[in-house]
Amino acid sequence: MILSGKARVAGVIGWPVAHSRSPRLHGYWLDQHGIDGAYIPLAVLPDRLDQALRALSALGLRGANLTVPHKEAALRICDEIDPLARRIGAVNTIVVGPDGTLQGSNTDSFGLIENLRRNSDWRASDGPAVILGAGGAARSACIALIDAGVELIRIVNRTAERALELAGAMAPCCEAVVWDHREDILDGAALVINTTTLGMTGQPPLEIRLDVLPGSATVYDIVYAPLETSLLAAARARGNPVVDGLGMLLYQAQPGFGAWFGVRPEVDEGLRNFVLQDLLAE
Ligand code: ATR
Repeated sequence: MILSGKARVAGVIGWPVAHSRSPRLHGYWLDQHGIDGAYIPLAVLPDRLDQALRALSALGLRGANLTVPHKEAALRICDEIDPLARRIGAVNTIVVGPDGTLQGSNTDSFGLIENLRRNSDWRASDGPAVILGAGGAARSACIALIDAGVELIRIVNRTAERALELAGAMAPCCEAVVWDHREDILDGAALVINTTTLGMTGQPPLEIRLDVLPGSATVYDIVYAPLETSLLAAARARGNPVVDGLGMLLYQAQPGFGAWFGVRPEVDEGLRNFVLQDLLAE
């Protein structure tokens, strides 16, 4: 990386931010395209987010990604919020406009559906989808599937109220299911997405038997550490098509990079292996 005085700069804002893969991922694209630019980690305390976001334009940064715990708070700080980010209820990408305005958007649902489309034969018309979880990731997944044309989504969550709330917000094509019925509702499903933290390194496993799931159903886990979760291993063992979560991380980064650095980058095997090396090194 060689930077000139004209280098374009963007970054990722989180607290903590040390775990973020985004600097590595954007760094790969910057090198690949020989761009005079940098993408840096920015550790910002929750109560200083407002100051930090205002400083983006003051410092001449092109923009930033937002990660935990800032995505919801940014919604109240950005000058403009695109309609999709408003529906998702969170901002993960900010572009600083030519006049210094902060333009907030959300690329999580794009990342989720793009990864699914590129890595499986799934079609929205294949049938009902099951979403495990009812947090922010589940909300992005619901919106992505609704916008893709899925007619019925069953949301199953440990805390029933959260599933009901999300299904209500996503009416009429979503219904809430209690956690104890998570196995029964796999009957007839064309797609299952795990958006819970279960199965992630350091978290409890996701306990779910796939006995009644059709053999053609696509099983998608947005967890990417480990890459092959026990859900994906069980699905693969019985012949279901599977999609891991790493691609979602890679695709959600594409629009921001394009806006800040002026090149629409590709998600290719080289990038995937480069980020994977880092995951495997832990
Ligand atoms: P995010 O915004 O990233 O989706 P979140 O809002 O914390 O994160 O959501 C985490 C999801 O994992 C929730 O659906 C959570 O279920 P609850 O709503 O019942 O908390 C789910 N989850 C986390 N730990 C779980 C566990 N031990 N058993 C079942 N679900 C769990």
